[in-house]
Amino acid sequence: MSQPIPQPPGLPLLGNIKDVDPSNTWWSLKKLSEKYGEIFQIKVLGKTLVFVAGAALAEELCDEKRFRKFVGGPIVEIRYLVHDALFSAFDDEPSWGIAHRIIAPKLSTSALKDNFNEMRDITNELMEKWKGLGVDNKIAPLGDLNRLNLETTTATLFGKRLNGLTGPEHPALKAMEDSTSEAIQRPTRPGILNWLFYGGKWKSSAKTLRAYGAELVQYRKDNPTERRDLLDALLTAKDPETGKGLTETEVIDEIINMPIGSSTAPCLLTASILFLLQNPEVVAKARQELDTVIGNGEFEYEHLSQLKYIEGVMRESLRLSFAAPGFNIEPIPRKGDKSPILLGGGKYQIAHNQAVILVLAGVNRDPEVFEEPLAFKPERMMGESFDKLPAGVKKWFGNGKRECIGKHWAVQFSMVVLAKMIKDIDFEAVNPDYKLEQDGWFNVRPIKFEAKVKPREI
Ligand code: HEM
Repeated sequence: MSQPIPQPPGLPLLGNIKDVDPSNTWWSLKKLSEKYGEIFQIKVLGKTLVFVAGAALAEELCDEKRFRKFVGGPIVEIRYLVHDALFSAFDDEPSWGIAHRIIAPKLSTSALKDNFNEMRDITNELMEKWKGLGVDNKIAPLGDLNRLNLETTTATLFGKRLNGLTGPEHPALKAMEDSTSEAIQRPTRPGILNWLFYGGKWKSSAKTLRAYGAELVQYRKDNPTERRDLLDALLTAKDPETGKGLTETEVIDEIINMPIGSSTAPCLLTASILFLLQNPEVVAKARQELDTVIGNGEFEYEHLSQLKYIEGVMRESLRLSFAAPGFNIEPIPRKGDKSPILLGGGKYQIAHNQAVILVLAGVNRDPEVFEEPLAFKPERMMGESFDKLPAGVKKWFGNGKRECIGKHWAVQFSMVVLAKMIKDIDFEAVNPDYKLEQDGWFNVRPIKFEAKVKPREI
């Protein structure tokens, strides 16, 4: 006999409308997951929304024989900007497979080896900027890391420098914020309000991002090169299965997907700075490793695989920042079978077509899996301890065939930036009492977090 899925009390007719703040949905869901545990549901205007926030149920929902990515709500909205590109393609759209097979080889660990020096050198530019700030050394890490991320994504994948680490911010950054915030909020507002009050922001952000993509394509046409990067594959490669390539519109769709996807990395890295400030013993251990492995010489690709503690710091930051805050799953339709879907061996049941949102703030900090789930302990993310963790708590990059295609890029970039920041920079909290508070749309980041930076004192 299954038990009811817990639900906050709510209001007559309106349901749980007050339990989720539409301007900070993920923070509301984090709070609900802390209160209700592994699974909960809310009802808004007669619609049921189910959330899973426990590791075991998350692992069950990642079984691709029973479940698949649910493309609905904000993901359908973002199709206005990027159509049927990787992130927003419906399960049965052939465009997904064609683009995936063209793009994946360029984002594999072996291909990314060629990008290491570029990643390191651009990161060095930011480190030099921070070191040179002198007395005026208060920074908003997220802003600078967003710039670094856009710069590095554009340079490594599309072969163009934007020179955007200093000076006015590149317009794509605001356009990404505007388009993703709108994609999340549009489904919660009446259509007439979207059209009347938010249509301008929605359209102009799309125009800016499509111009960013189109300029990169034009730049490549005007400047032929031997680079065999992602842009080259998007423009020239053929899918080995169907023999099809991408049209220019599709190329622009896929280009735009990449900085939107990679904008999760600065959220993670900003949270890492906070965790490091709260755990000085972790900084000491990390520096010991960096000084032993890299020493006084240049940071080289070969060092990466030896930085096991830094890898632990990165994974533990992924766990506790839940920078990508969740993803959506639905049961694979079973022809003619509308019987409910059983979860947890029958403990709960959901309708045959009920979408479920995985709330990683709950899943990643499940007390059934982690002792002291809120503590920052890189050791549990290393070696055998990491291998022994259940698969459900390692879903920071999503699941299965729709797992993050930029995962290896994100890991390499985050390792490079973390290593450089820890090795070269002393951080000081502007507000030592700052407690993590996040907001965001397709990703979540610390709000109003500031730090002072100066060259590391040896
Ligand atoms: C720390 C950094 C990152 C995290 C935590 C992250 C997380 C995720 C997650 C959870 C998904 C699955 C979304 C879903 O199921 O709806 C996803 C998909 C995706 N990510 Fe990332 N991501 C990161 C960085 C990147 C980077 C660097 C890129 C590009 C270079 C990227 C591009 C994409 C794309 C294109 C998809 C859609 C894949 C598909 O459906 O085939 N992401 N990411």
